[in-house]
Amino acid sequence: MDVATGQAQIVALCNQKGGVGKTTSTINLGAALAEQGLRVLLVDLDPQGALSAGLGVAVNELELTVYDLLGKSAPSIDDVLLRTGVERMDLLPSNIDLSATEIQLVNEVGREQALRRALDPVRDRYDYILIDCQPSLSLLTVNALACADGVIIPMECEFFSLRGLALLNDTMEKVRDRLNPALNLFGIVVTMYDRRLLHSRQVQARVVEVFGDKVYDTMISRTVRFPDASIAGEPITSWAPSSTGADQYRALAKEVIARSGR
Ligand SMILES: Nc1ncnc2c1ncn2[C@@H]1O[C@H](COP(=O)(O)OP(=O)(O)OP(=O)(O)O)[C@@H](O)[C@H]1O
Ligand SMILES: [Mg+2]
Repeated sequence: MDVATGQAQIVALCNQKGGVGKTTSTINLGAALAEQGLRVLLVDLDPQGALSAGLGVAVNELELTVYDLLGKSAPSIDDVLLRTGVERMDLLPSNIDLSATEIQLVNEVGREQALRRALDPVRDRYDYILIDCQPSLSLLTVNALACADGVIIPMECEFFSLRGLALLNDTMEKVRDRLNPALNLFGIVVTMYDRRLLHSRQVQARVVEVFGDKVYDTMISRTVRFPDASIAGEPITSWAPSSTGADQYRALAKEVIARSGR
């Protein structure tokens, strides 16, 4: 909650590289923030619907999704919102329907602000709104950046991951210029870290060298418990509450709270 305005802080989890841990981080950071007593809304902004599926939602049976919210005959956001199994954490779900949004929005005035308009009515109900972006710098992703206070970049601990960050930085710069001057880089979270591997340690050191204190101290280890938890349709904080992975996302949540001053 933004102390001055009583509005949720909106965070986009963004990286145009695929499979780096955006969705896993959205679910588990969200659940860890909710565990801390904060009210959290997760937004599935990827037509793959992995965030929704990872929380146990039957994505093919959804009647209303984010797609409907961004369209012209938008229903009330309350009709789209779902409760999750995690107390204080809600979800705006998506499925493949969302892939039509790009085509429908493209000729509209204010097309980059559709998500901001959709979220506006609930901003005062949550402390954090986390948006899971798709792996491209699409109009959907620009919508997330246009309404976000800040971006968290999950970065797989692998050498080639560094390359893509310059492109993401350029996009953020453009969004700042044209759409959302308040957009911040909140931080970079290194995922799939394996401390036994020299390669992992070298990449991590290099990320810190380049991005300094933008890199969260907490790193997320590579463990099969994350894919296992998504198959179970639960965050790791409830599926394996005393696992290292759960503790790492709890530590990340504390860093995120400390940096955003809540
Ligand atoms: N720390 C981790 N250790 C091991 N596996 C992980 C970890 N984080 C995520 N995974 C697994 O790696 C795969 C990709 O993760 P995830 O879906 O979170 O990435 P993503 O960036 O959202 O991918 P996409 O770009 O396709 O949306 C998933 O199968 C997930 O379960
Ligand atoms: Mg994803």
